[in-house]
Amino acid sequence: MNIQALLSDKVSQALIAAGAPADCEPQVRQSAKVQFGDYQANGVMSVAKSLGKPPRQVAELVIANLDLTGIASKVEIAGPGFINIFLDPEFLAKSVDAAVSSDRVGVTISEPKTVVVDYSAPNVAKEMHVGHVRSTIIGDAAVRTLEFLGHKVIRANHVGDWGTQFGMLIAYLEKQQQENAGEMALSDLEEFYRAAKKHYDEDAEFAERARAYVVKLQGGDEYCRTMWRKLVDVTMTQNQITYQRLNVTLTRDDVMGESLYNPMLPGIVADLKAKGLAVESEGATVVFLDEYQNKEGEPMGVIIQKKDGGYLYTTTDIACAKYRYETLHADRVLYFIDSRQHQHLMQAWTIVRKAGYVPDSVPLEHHMFGMMLGKDGKPFKTRSGGTVKLTDLLDEALERARRLVTEKNPDMPADELEALANAVGIGAVKYADLSKNRTTDYIFDWDNMLAFEGNTAPYMQYAYTRVLSVFRKAAIDETELLKAPVVIREDREAQLAARLLQFEETLNVVARDGTPHVMCTYLYDVAGLFSGFYEHCPILAADSEEARNSRLKLALLTAKTLKLGLDTLGIETVERM
Ligand code: ARG
Repeated sequence: MNIQALLSDKVSQALIAAGAPADCEPQVRQSAKVQFGDYQANGVMSVAKSLGKPPRQVAELVIANLDLTGIASKVEIAGPGFINIFLDPEFLAKSVDAAVSSDRVGVTISEPKTVVVDYSAPNVAKEMHVGHVRSTIIGDAAVRTLEFLGHKVIRANHVGDWGTQFGMLIAYLEKQQQENAGEMALSDLEEFYRAAKKHYDEDAEFAERARAYVVKLQGGDEYCRTMWRKLVDVTMTQNQITYQRLNVTLTRDDVMGESLYNPMLPGIVADLKAKGLAVESEGATVVFLDEYQNKEGEPMGVIIQKKDGGYLYTTTDIACAKYRYETLHADRVLYFIDSRQHQHLMQAWTIVRKAGYVPDSVPLEHHMFGMMLGKDGKPFKTRSGGTVKLTDLLDEALERARRLVTEKNPDMPADELEALANAVGIGAVKYADLSKNRTTDYIFDWDNMLAFEGNTAPYMQYAYTRVLSVFRKAAIDETELLKAPVVIREDREAQLAARLLQFEETLNVVARDGTPHVMCTYLYDVAGLFSGFYEHCPILAADSEEARNSRLKLALLTAKTLKLGLDTLGIETVERM
């Protein structure tokens, strides 16, 4: 059910009948205030301008041609020429009826597209740190949303699994194996990387060996490949545990690391040269872009192959975009990467477009995000100033949630309590991130995210259980209930119904813009409207059987919508808390 689309169609027709061109924009939006109705159409003004007529006059004409029988109970002109649309309670009732009896609460399947989503992307032999959290959590919510809408989603985990550091890592792994009789001391990846680096910096002979291994690895040497694979394997096994804890849908099959594109790089460089886009400059191969200027105001040079023959992060991202279009047949590619990499991506994609690797009809979208900051407003660090390991962060979340839910549910059995703590703790960390507009930095604050009031996971999870408890008390069979009709008489019923019916519109915004916070705001709003409705419109004590059943159905649709909505965010729900 997409009321906005339905109204857009109707208003378009009326605009055209009033003299507007066939491609006019009806600009139908959800109204921000109840007094403006449920929706408003703002397209009259620009149409009036192009027709050279007074907007109110055009608005009158549009209304005369606007047939909203059975949809709206009132349509009025406001201000300079806005059209306010008030939905008919009967239309709302029928739509709620249809939505509540469907598994998908009436959400239609979009025209299926192949969408590649680049997210998470940790680095090999490094612990996944909080910097990867945002990409993983936000990207996964986008993936779930796109899949729910019926798209074919390809998860692309662009793992950093290639580069000159692997010579050093292989040399150190070898040393470890010799000293510990084959035991892999890779459990602490951070420590492993640091120790490898230390040897590289301090031991000339080790550094020599490391450099030789880089060359051998790139040449396809069997021993080096095996050692490299071990490093990748151990890292991704550890990351997989984290994904599971986070309730993130990535699997080992989704790994499409940098190494995948490695064999394509010589061809890319040769092709860019042949196309006259890349040139030799001081021994390196460079693409000069007029679109970007360096400090001297000259076209910026983007190196795609170094003097020593090595390729760069940009070269890989050029090949990667091409591959996603050519081989994966992407209709659209979404990248969830922090904002500091914006220029890098723009440069890579400018080259991709110039070379004709991906047509303009296939969008390459950078959905960027800011940093995670501590309460002091500085980059999130441990007390001693180190990077916070994700596993430690999740352990702490669980510990805090455990304390919280134990206090609130002293009589709950231990295993249920543990499951609840997990849902609340992990949910809190994820929701705190998801609920903020991703483009800005955000402050990581335990007390805020675990609060039972406000737009938080615990509040939303609790709101869901409250709706469920109404059913437990009603002790009614769902199939029986579905036979009873919804009737809408009270304003609070109408407002809740109208908002519930905007679920699909919300999903579409998240899918289009990659902004899960829009879903959080929506669900929070639904929970608030439900509270108001629950307080003012008695459900179990309704004065007629009809009203009672109708209100139970509104409650049922609320429960279903909250659950599905939280699902698209990757937030677990529980039956009681
Ligand atoms: N591994 C990279 C990092 O940790 C992120 C990769 C993002 N994806 C991409 N296609 N460049 O910074």
